[in-house]
Amino acid sequence: MNRKDDHIRYALEQPQKESPFSVIRLSYEALPLFNVSDIKTDVSIFGQTFPYPIFINAMTGGSENAKKINERLAMLANAFNLPMALGSASTLFENPEMVETFSIVKTVNPEGFLIANLGAHHPIENVEKVIQILQPDAFEYHLNVAQELAMPEGDRHFTSWSKNIQIAAKTLKIPFIVKEVGFGMNEHTMKRLHQWGVQYINVGGKGGTNFAWIENQRRTVPLQGLDDVGYSTPESLLRGKAITPLTLIASGGIQTPMEVVKSLVLGAKMVGMSRYFLRLVTENSHEDAVALLQTFIEEIKAIMVTLNVNTIDKLPEVDYHIEGGLWIR
Ligand SMILES: Cc1cc2nc3c(=O)[nH]c(=O)nc-3n(C[C@H](O)[C@H](O)[C@H](O)COP(=O)(O)O)c2cc1C
Repeated sequence: MNRKDDHIRYALEQPQKESPFSVIRLSYEALPLFNVSDIKTDVSIFGQTFPYPIFINAMTGGSENAKKINERLAMLANAFNLPMALGSASTLFENPEMVETFSIVKTVNPEGFLIANLGAHHPIENVEKVIQILQPDAFEYHLNVAQELAMPEGDRHFTSWSKNIQIAAKTLKIPFIVKEVGFGMNEHTMKRLHQWGVQYINVGGKGGTNFAWIENQRRTVPLQGLDDVGYSTPESLLRGKAITPLTLIASGGIQTPMEVVKSLVLGAKMVGMSRYFLRLVTENSHEDAVALLQTFIEEIKAIMVTLNVNTIDKLPEVDYHIEGGLWIR
């Protein structure tokens, strides 16, 4: 079986723990200031305005199954004008014939905002090649050291990453994002990225899909300590919040409208979900997925009514408190 297909299978099978967002309580306003029709959910990011603060976080490409999933994801992106990130394009360097498993997204949704993705070990020449082939609107490097270390066939050389990121931050003409794949980031990492000129950081925190766990399923002797490293998504957001004018993007373990709203309250500008969208398209027809996503968005608006907030950019002003500690998983 192809590695991407393994990842899809294990991501769907991974047992879910308690959400790290459950310790965050938002204020509740019993006396509403707004009607549902007053609530606006649009956000401006990457030099554009999108109708909702959510996007499809990086997942697939590189196998026939991945192509089918990308097609369905692109149909949803098209229906809701959601930005969509592709899975790592790395496979295109060994299997250029796989290009359609990625470009299907543009065929289905030609006007959609597309983000191309590569690991940070790829030098700028590879980034430029992928941009030329896939014609994305933004590019992101992913950071996945814990995953590489757990992966039997993973990389063991990491020192080129910092240099590649600095070059990309200086060179790229389209929005440039650095994202984690699910182990989060602390303020030291985010400050360094910021100093190198990176404007967009997707914190990709712990609490959802865990790639050390996934790779450990593929090993005969698991490296279990790696399942535990990293920072949850809320903790990563709180650690990065003070670094202005960074644009923080939340992802990792976000599967409900309340978790989307809590991420925005904690300072994220936009919220990415992978597993949620993977399940949405693999477990439902397109029509049912559209209806479920519509309800998801209505719930975001309903929660905003209870907070007395009518626009997404006012969510960071909402009061919240953290029960116990954040360091819970
Ligand atoms: C099947 C699958 C494949 C993924 N492939 C990639 C990838 O190629 N590049 C990447 O940056 N992240 C990849 N991710 C990680 C996600 O972008 C995200 O960081 C992680 O799944 C945590 O989010 P979640 O809890 O919403 O799933 C993948 C996730 C899944 C579920």
